Amino acid sequence: MMTETTELGIEDDGENSTAVMGSYGSAVWPVYDAAAEILVLWAINQPSMRKHNFFVRQSSHSLSIDACGHLLSILQSPSSMGTPGVTGAVMWDSGVVLAKFMEHAVDCKRLVLMGKNVVELGSGCGLVGCVAALLGAHVILTDLHDRLKLLKKNVDVNVGVLGNARGSARVMELTWGDDLSTEFVAPLPDFVVGSDVIYSEDAVTDLLQTLSQLSGSHTTIFLAGELRNDAVLECFLEAALGEFQIGHIDQTQWHPEFRSHRVIIAASPKLEKLVLKELLNCKVPA
Ligand SMILES: C[S@@+](CC[C@H](N)C(=O)[O-])C[C@H]1O[C@@H](n2cnc3c(N)ncnc32)[C@H](O)[C@@H]1O
Repeated sequence: MMTETTELGIEDDGENSTAVMGSYGSAVWPVYDAAAEILVLWAINQPSMRKHNFFVRQSSHSLSIDACGHLLSILQSPSSMGTPGVTGAVMWDSGVVLAKFMEHAVDCKRLVLMGKNVVELGSGCGLVGCVAALLGAHVILTDLHDRLKLLKKNVDVNVGVLGNARGSARVMELTWGDDLSTEFVAPLPDFVVGSDVIYSEDAVTDLLQTLSQLSGSHTTIFLAGELRNDAVLECFLEAALGEFQIGHIDQTQWHPEFRSHRVIIAASPKLEKLVLKELLNCKVPA
């Protein structure tokens, strides 16, 4: 079958289409409809049949993981998980999957993080932000105020002590929906990343407001989420599709040893960028 490439970079073979989005150099599956996407994701991945927490052990006080040529040691605080509302005191699978996806994408030259500005939302224990810094990015890892102590410790242990780290990492408070200080927006980041940050319908509006405030025409967002609650993910996708172009990244592009049927990774640039490109490409009648 013939494959055509449209003005938006979408490859269309008549049945399936993929698109290149933002600064991620490989084709992704565009998401057009939230409810249809949820049906497909749950039907294909059957998440309820899969093991939870495959890559992490949340009862342990630390998680050791090889990344970027280093053995990283991510400290966890399992006892804090008894406190109502605390979720970031331990690692979640989607954090491990996203961190290893970024490392793999850089190795495969689909992604350049060297010298780029990255903001991580809801960093929790901080593995994703630490790996981005080790891949050469200048990263601001963020979370709620009472989560920052453990996060800072993990950044110090895993990035601060490595004299040969090519990027940098710092920790700042950021509550979704709040006004952002200039450090976050001047300049706007090249990438915004987040793992397991879509888990409550109540937080969707605030999370989207922050994603929107952080996104310029050059910003690409990577979100990894657990297929845990279809209603919450559908609510997020439905609201996000009004403002962002979203594409899910096929598992074949993830790190081969860190794939999970309970996790999805999506890439998302602002819609305006594509609309602008479409306008520039349209033919004006003489
Ligand atoms: C399920 S944890 C995921 C942690 C980490 N990203 C990971 O994958 O291991 C969700 C994170 O989002 C943070 N979070 C939740 N609500 C937030 C809000 N309104 N503003 C900022 N961070 C928030 C939590 O403190 C927590 O660290």
